[in-house]
Amino acid sequence: MPIIAPSLLASDFANLQRDIEMVNASEADWFHIDVMDGVFVPNISFGMPVIQAIKKHAKKTMDVHLMIVQPERYIETFAKIGADIITVHHEACTHLHRTLAQIKEAGCKAGVVLNPATPVSVLEDVLVDCDMVLLMSVNPGYGGQKFIYKTIHKVKKLKAMIKEQGLDTMIEIDGGVNLETGQLLVDAGADALVAGSFVFGNEDPLATIAKLKKL
Ligand code: DX5
Ligand code: ZN
Repeated sequence: MPIIAPSLLASDFANLQRDIEMVNASEADWFHIDVMDGVFVPNISFGMPVIQAIKKHAKKTMDVHLMIVQPERYIETFAKIGADIITVHHEACTHLHRTLAQIKEAGCKAGVVLNPATPVSVLEDVLVDCDMVLLMSVNPGYGGQKFIYKTIHKVKKLKAMIKEQGLDTMIEIDGGVNLETGQLLVDAGADALVAGSFVFGNEDPLATIAKLKKL
């Protein structure tokens, strides 16, 4: 069964506590938290005060996806305010190996994110240091975008790389996940699925999460 990580980016910010309680009561495993800085991606989402507010109510793993430049400047802060998993973009890290070590030192699981245009081959020498790899199946910055099908091929390639190196690195996918794309991803070897608009845009988010969980 895949890990399901609803993205709060698609929640109703005016009813954030209500939406968090829904996820708490659901079959979802993680909270996916999208931090955007308006520089690395062309959009700004939310930062520390909002994450602290989320943490007060969230009873599941906090999966924090940093879409920011120089993420190394903020790792300790995100760990302190409640992140369990921190993922940083390959495209945003000059010293990726060092940043992954910094995340682990801060007590969190460390993950690398790849944009749709970045090949999985860039991970060859750093895969051993990753607890997770997050493959973007849309260009980061916005929820509700169309799934890029090329991602299925990347999942298969990454899965083979992980196997070849004898690792148990998790594969998470983010962007355009629904029941159809989710099934293809699970079949290809994905371990965790992020879903934003598909969950929160549905009139029955609990049932939607349950369906994703059954993929
Ligand atoms: C996009 C974010 C995603 C987003 C996914 O930059 O990283 O987590 O919330 O939204 P959907 O599931 O609507 O594509
Ligand atoms: Zn995300």
